[in-house]
Amino acid sequence: MLYPSREHLPDHVAPALVVDYDTFVVDAPDGDFAAAMVRLRDSGVPGLFWTQRNGGHWVATGDGQVRRILEDAETFSSRAMRVPKSANPVPPIIPLMLDPPDHHKYRRLIGPAMTPSKVQRLEDSARILSIGLIEALEPQGHCEFIGDFAQQMPIAIFMGMLDLPPEDRGHIMGIVDRIIRPDVPETRMRGFEELAGYTMVKVRERRAVPGEDLVSQLALARIDGELLDDAPLQGLMSVLLLAGLDTVAGMLGFIVRFLATSPRHRRQLREEPALVNSAIEEFLRRMAMVNLTREVERDTELGGVTLKRGDLIVVPTPLGNFPQDGQDWLAVDFQRPRIAHATFGAGPHFCLGAMLARAEIRIFLEEWLARIPDFAIAEGASLKVQVGAAAMIPCLPLVWPAAAK
Ligand code: HEM
Repeated sequence: MLYPSREHLPDHVAPALVVDYDTFVVDAPDGDFAAAMVRLRDSGVPGLFWTQRNGGHWVATGDGQVRRILEDAETFSSRAMRVPKSANPVPPIIPLMLDPPDHHKYRRLIGPAMTPSKVQRLEDSARILSIGLIEALEPQGHCEFIGDFAQQMPIAIFMGMLDLPPEDRGHIMGIVDRIIRPDVPETRMRGFEELAGYTMVKVRERRAVPGEDLVSQLALARIDGELLDDAPLQGLMSVLLLAGLDTVAGMLGFIVRFLATSPRHRRQLREEPALVNSAIEEFLRRMAMVNLTREVERDTELGGVTLKRGDLIVVPTPLGNFPQDGQDWLAVDFQRPRIAHATFGAGPHFCLGAMLARAEIRIFLEEWLARIPDFAIAEGASLKVQVGAAAMIPCLPLVWPAAAK
């Protein structure tokens, strides 16, 4: 068996740093991804270890390493966004897979779509959609939370940012379904092509008759005096769907898994609505679920370990959120003083949708708990966690007493 044989270890990797670890397999039978990552870190693995799986790469688990790597884009490139190297899309998804200074040129094109007033406008349609979805689900007394709610709301946001007509929602949902739940990998690639086809029609329309929306801004944007080509335009629009859909759905799933098992926290949120913003921050810290990847740009040393140009490092964001200071950071405490968590990353690629994500979580908490205050995980449900770039519980069946308002 080649994996996890040490036979083909790169010369610079000391055998003592090798752990048999598959970043796409997590031991979290209760659906708690972040706790599983903390268990891995506390199991005695080296702060920076090497695994032979998925093409061979480092995993950063040590204290302070997550932030240190993400903040140093000169040493740790975003050229690779996942392991193995062959799994990275060509052309790249932008600005996610670009490094400064090019990164900044494209990032600033999306920034204006995420200002507080723009987010506020998107919030209104997300709230209306959320209320409609929840009110349709409530009388049923059960749902599959991820498909029935968590993946639906971000579609409204995506459509709002691009100012797409409501009647296109079914078509976009179909494309998203093929991207998120492909039967074979080719279906996913076809989904991206369909998305590009759809959005490029809109680009051409908005070039002719521009509006206030992000498609119009990108359609008319210039870099070094030139309008953008199709490839970067497609990359920019896909990033919104990719970064904004899976992540919010995944985060809502982990929050709901927790709330379904904690009547005390549900009650606290209902009885003290002013706690909602602290609760969101605590959920974000506690439920981090993105595993980032970086490629070493130049030979360097980190935590006493030699890294070579071209090495890949998986950087689990949850491990930026659980300081090793003896406190119980796994406990969910809405009154906890805030810490700088890594859930939205750090450094030049810090999440452009952080404000929007917080708004979406708040809308969910407010509207769901007002209509379905008590709910539980359906008996016998398996809360298997799926790990890609972002971890998620793909299927989360819930039950509640119908019409129990
Ligand atoms: C809870 C939900 C979310 C989480 C946990 C999350 C997490 C992250 C993380 C960790 C990064 C850094 C990537 C890196 O360093 O390589 C990132 C980047 C990004 N996120 Fe989010 N995100 C969320 C929601 C959203 C939403 C709703 C949007 C917009 C629709 C969005 C848009 C982006 C974009 C465009 C980037 C790329 C920024 C850049 O490369 O400069 N995200 N996100």
